[in-house]
Amino acid sequence: MNIPVNVNSVTTTRDWSTLQKQAERMKNTTLRTLFTEQPGRASDLTYDLGPLRVDLSKNLIDERTLRILVDVARDMGIEEYRTAMFDGEHINTTENRAVLHSALRIPVDRDFSVDGQDIAEDVHGVLGRMRDFARALRSGAWQGVTNHTIKHVVNIGIGGSDLGPAMAATALRPYQTAGITPHFISNIDPTDLAGTLDGLDAESTLFVVASKTFTTSETLANAHAAKRWLLRELKDAGVPTDTDEDIRAITEKHFVAVSTNEEKVREFGIDPKNMFGFWDWVGGRYSLDSAIGLTLMAAIGPQDFMEFLEGFYAVDDHFRTEPLEMNVPVLMGMLGVWYTDLLGYETHAVLPYNQDLARFPAYLQQLTMESNGKSVRLDGTQVDLPTGEIYWGEPGTNGQHAFFQLMHQGTRVVPADFIGFVNSHNDNVAADGETSMHDMLMSNFFAQTRVLAFGKTAEELREEGVPEELIPHKVMPGNRPSTTIMAEKLRPRVLGALISLYEHITFVQGVIWGINSFDQWGVELGKKQANELLPAVGGHERSDAGDSSTDSLIEYYRSQRES
Ligand code: F6P
Repeated sequence: MNIPVNVNSVTTTRDWSTLQKQAERMKNTTLRTLFTEQPGRASDLTYDLGPLRVDLSKNLIDERTLRILVDVARDMGIEEYRTAMFDGEHINTTENRAVLHSALRIPVDRDFSVDGQDIAEDVHGVLGRMRDFARALRSGAWQGVTNHTIKHVVNIGIGGSDLGPAMAATALRPYQTAGITPHFISNIDPTDLAGTLDGLDAESTLFVVASKTFTTSETLANAHAAKRWLLRELKDAGVPTDTDEDIRAITEKHFVAVSTNEEKVREFGIDPKNMFGFWDWVGGRYSLDSAIGLTLMAAIGPQDFMEFLEGFYAVDDHFRTEPLEMNVPVLMGMLGVWYTDLLGYETHAVLPYNQDLARFPAYLQQLTMESNGKSVRLDGTQVDLPTGEIYWGEPGTNGQHAFFQLMHQGTRVVPADFIGFVNSHNDNVAADGETSMHDMLMSNFFAQTRVLAFGKTAEELREEGVPEELIPHKVMPGNRPSTTIMAEKLRPRVLGALISLYEHITFVQGVIWGINSFDQWGVELGKKQANELLPAVGGHERSDAGDSSTDSLIEYYRSQRES
């Protein structure tokens, strides 16, 4: 396939005007009616993909709308783009790169080469080195410079080099059984480093400096500060730290790197033999299942990490082979387009009913918003529709006691994904000493999507004897759409499947909007200007930013700065 750079807007597809009419119709119908009209609605709209069960029935769609959405996806060339991505064509056109995160989880027995590179061999070569390293750490064979076993692995990285492993390490806490605790430092705010290192024992701590480019200023500043902390602590413990040879011996045992940039890794003082590579065809926000997952693998072990990859693969396979009509990432991606562009809903909540998924919404924010927060199409012309869903969320039931009021009765509609599990790693009993707390959690999970969808009418309230003056306040409008995603338990395989599902949803939406989901030029200017402002912020130069607001804010900062 030649990538069609001049992509027409989705608004020019033959079914777009029908979709607009459908949207008007949907605004005048209710989920109550849709369920009454379609007795088998739940089973018609429930799908299994890998270990996940996905129920789309509480979305504001009927069969005809869904069919048209799929037709639009087909017209926009989703099948051709999907093939192009999996085949390693350079669909990241502005950087002339392939987009092959799916290759990071291909089974070991598959041959796969692109642009003359034996991808399968390279991927499994690095995975093999990661496994050896993780085993050495976990067995105590890899020791610190004073022969202490490593108990703390600190990942230093930001964005895709942090959010993925940090989210997954929290999500898979029950699988951290070998006495290795993962920690994460990302923010240039020195409080992040100080808070993380506070109380750590340097002799049993290893740092993983994770940066695709190895030029990210936050990561390099934190890595250098961590190195200074390590040398100071070891010196206090009587370890020689004066000569280059001393420093080399310490670094060799306490620092490894994950990067694509060997030269910069060497410059930092890490021997390339302690570097784990990946490739320019892995985008930062798609890199958790590359060597960027090293800290995660050290914490949960190679076997569970490989199971995690299998979960990704199960959903890749579904996305690659299922017809569009039954293809869950396609259907969910199109639902996002439907809500964003046809029904005008501004945001998308992700609500995991599992405390260990607390960082999942933040992870999805980078995945989806750095990918699809674009306003020009592949050919450089302006888009003519809103793009890039705004993702946000918190674990249930905490969210219920915070922002759910707006979701139930506010003037804005917030489509939501509810993610819940049949079994908990940590069940307990409630105040009565009997009721399962997990059952309580899940009763809330089921109740919320039900109330959002079906609400409560004035008549129902009257029948319950609610005083007339309170009825307007207590009416629950309902008709608030949600998708329910369930799995048996939050296992590595399940987490891999969930992530892969959202990766492909993001891809689908990028194709529909005709944008490049794989570059991120929008974050560059801010980085550049931060460097330009630093001499005025941190030194004696007067600020001359060129606008009076920035100049006066920097003046205030300097006047109040403690010396
Ligand atoms: O924020 C921009 C970005 O380039 C992300 O895309 C990336 O995940 C992050 O910075 C970190 O980059 P690196 O891994 O090169 O340090």
